[in-house]
Amino acid sequence: MPSPPEMTAMEVMGAAFLLLLSVIYLPVYIVAHLLMQFMYLPRSLHRHIFHPTNILQRKYFAKDAYAIVTGATDGAGKGFVEQLAARGWNVIIHGRSLDKINDIITSLQVLYPNQVFLPLRLDCTENEMTIKLPAALKHFKGLDIRILINNAAYLHPCAQFEDLPIQMVDDVLRTNAIFPTFITHCMLNFRKITTDPPAVTLPSEKESAIHSALSEGSSVKGENINSAWHSTESPLRLIVTIGSVGALYATSKTSPYAPAKCYLNAFASFLRFSLQSKDIEVMNVQTGALDTKMWPGRRKYIMILQPNEFARRVLDKVGLAKIGHGWGWWGWKTLGLGVDEYVAGGSGVWVHWGHQTMNFMQGLLPGDVWCAIGETVVTRLGYNPQTSPLLAV
Ligand SMILES: NC(=O)c1ccc[n+]([C@@H]2O[C@H](COP(=O)([O-])OP(=O)(O)OC[C@H]3O[C@@H](n4cnc5c(N)ncnc54)[C@H](OP(=O)(O)O)[C@@H]3O)[C@@H](O)[C@H]2O)c1
Repeated sequence: MPSPPEMTAMEVMGAAFLLLLSVIYLPVYIVAHLLMQFMYLPRSLHRHIFHPTNILQRKYFAKDAYAIVTGATDGAGKGFVEQLAARGWNVIIHGRSLDKINDIITSLQVLYPNQVFLPLRLDCTENEMTIKLPAALKHFKGLDIRILINNAAYLHPCAQFEDLPIQMVDDVLRTNAIFPTFITHCMLNFRKITTDPPAVTLPSEKESAIHSALSEGSSVKGENINSAWHSTESPLRLIVTIGSVGALYATSKTSPYAPAKCYLNAFASFLRFSLQSKDIEVMNVQTGALDTKMWPGRRKYIMILQPNEFARRVLDKVGLAKIGHGWGWWGWKTLGLGVDEYVAGGSGVWVHWGHQTMNFMQGLLPGDVWCAIGETVVTRLGYNPQTSPLLAV
């Protein structure tokens, strides 16, 4: 084997200089980062201590209103259903197993006989979802569905991306990215898809005027677009998407789950601004580990949150993503008390102080250093892909 070329004196001096620089740089970086974090202290205090926990009920609740929860047959999704039911909501329970959905409905019906619980059975990975989803949602025609919780997700075994079966890659992308996008689109067009096509179509002249006015955000011949389309406006008032800490730090064995969650983060932060004018709150939630079947065999540690507790915290944080909500637009804008969404793909709302602190600690280290630690943690806490039953799918 050829021996590596010897370094010149200049290269040795350059390497020594860089080493010295990085030894000095690391503590400076950590101290500067710690000082910077004080700027976020008001937001953290507000989020975890002062934010009123009753906004969901105060602003969005009505006796006949419904919430729809995806992936509601287990883990956090089931937690959301139980928490919403306990707060008096009627709930549409989405899942892929009708037996599991019916079991939940039966037990809830005993506890809350005056509320309505409806099934929505659809496997997120099914083909032709653009047709099946609107068709399924038509069954809920006329219901006042005010909340959509995009919770369904599927985590593949921790393994090299190229070692995963291609079908598994397809399932992850469909469940974690495509399905939430489609159901959000359908729900924003809920009244349109649940209404039969109008007998009389718009004269083409007026239709094109509406399209160009919509794109310019103006009105048609003095007629307000919002009122012209009022009858087809969505009843949605709140969209919650569930992100993952996994999307914030790159590791080698969490693809495509984590990249799909990155997409969901970005989708929610774009949506948050685009739906601001329609008074629809879009809250992207960040979380670390939950005690669910998503990560079987994981060692238990103090930061693992119970799914019901997670759901309760999320519902208590509603209102944080509403720009200008509660105490005035300027308060939110100037103090930035709401969510971290200033850039596309912003991280959203941490609902657990422990998870937020862990994220903060991670931020103390330069990205690559933390990613290397994350890699070890994923491998240590993760389950062995060779023995995982999921890889046999
Ligand atoms: N667990 C964690 O440590 C953790 C960490 C960060 C973020 N999160 C996020 O938290 C959310 C809830 O996760 P979880 O831990 O509660 O997960 P979970 O226990 O595995 O539950 C996932 C739910 O999604 C449903 N689901 C999965 N694939 C589906 C498909 N193809 N079609 C229809 N439904 C499907 C499951 O249905 P079945 O009951 O039929 O399986 C189940 O109801 C997810 O968005 C996840 O990414 C979790």
